Amino acid sequence: MKVLVTGGAGFIGSHVVDLLLQAGHSVAVVDNLHTGKRRNLNPQAAFHQVDLRDLARLDAVFEQEGIQAILHQAALANVRESMQDPVTYTEVNVIGTLNLLELARQHGVQKIVFASTGGAVYGEGHTDQGSRLPFTEASWPQPRDNYGANKLSCEYHLDLYQANYGIPCVSLRYPNVYGPRQDDKGEAGVVAIFAGAMLRNEPTRITGDGAQMRDFTYVEDIARANLLALEKEVTGIFNVGTGVPTDINTIHRVLAELTGYTLEPAYVPRPVGEVYATYLDSSKAQQELGWEPRVSLREGLRRTVEWMRAHLDEL
Ligand SMILES: NC(=O)c1ccc[n+]([C@@H]2O[C@H](COP(=O)([O-])OP(=O)(O)OC[C@H]3O[C@@H](n4cnc5c(N)ncnc54)[C@H](O)[C@@H]3O)[C@@H](O)[C@H]2O)c1
Repeated sequence: MKVLVTGGAGFIGSHVVDLLLQAGHSVAVVDNLHTGKRRNLNPQAAFHQVDLRDLARLDAVFEQEGIQAILHQAALANVRESMQDPVTYTEVNVIGTLNLLELARQHGVQKIVFASTGGAVYGEGHTDQGSRLPFTEASWPQPRDNYGANKLSCEYHLDLYQANYGIPCVSLRYPNVYGPRQDDKGEAGVVAIFAGAMLRNEPTRITGDGAQMRDFTYVEDIARANLLALEKEVTGIFNVGTGVPTDINTIHRVLAELTGYTLEPAYVPRPVGEVYATYLDSSKAQQELGWEPRVSLREGLRRTVEWMRAHLDEL
């Protein structure tokens, strides 16, 4: 298929591009390089430096490339920034997604896969069974920031385009994704931030007591979920996480072992609104997509450290 990957110069998008090409698909990338990097671009994919908000230029890409499917990874994804600038976030994340949906309708696109988020969509949510964790797709969405509200809004837009225009759509709710090419200067991405600091022997900081739990899932597993969502005849919302909660102190300790880091972390107050614990039940993805994570946490952290060590000068 001719697949458009938005955000293909970014961390997750670039792994999605690599896997699609390996699987024999033809790929075009749209990215405005806001956080994406040229060095992440796979030379076998056609690259268009276009902003999601620029409908006319996006339309030209669809026309020129004959796009048949969209894997939509591009977004502004900084939770704190989304609270400071909700309008820009909504323009990029929601209007940008609507631009793609309109073009999908006009150009006869056969599949759309959307990068959603478990962490920000579920928030501190609850389930109708009363037990909160792990979150299932039936858990009540409770975004507590504009980024999460943007993502949930996009999921609804996908659903209504599917219902009204018959375009098969999948929303994948990602957990905390980590791996090679993640930005170690970002707001989130604790694995990259710790590993980068440790390899430079710089101090590290943990917010709160470090007992907060997250579902750390390796980026190649997330890329494979995208490929399966593209190729299988499935639609709807899927969690794609390991289901294993890991606390931040453990991440720090394992990365310290892998990098030979001996300094103690500084503990600083937790930011207001930070979710305390989130991890995802992905049995629906296992049953309907045939997806399950393959890379263990320790192996994934080892690969990430190895990659960061080799690329430290470029980061
Ligand atoms: N990293 C995670 O743990 C995580 C968790 C949940 C969801 N997600 C989602 O996964 C997707 C990829 O995230 P990532 O971690 O790879 O982040 P990233 O910042 O590396 O990738 C996002 C890409 O989108 C591009 N982009 C941003 N604004 C754009 C615009 N207006 N027009 C065109 N391109 C634009 C950026 O340049 C970048 O290449 C995002 O949609 C994000 O919300 C990520």
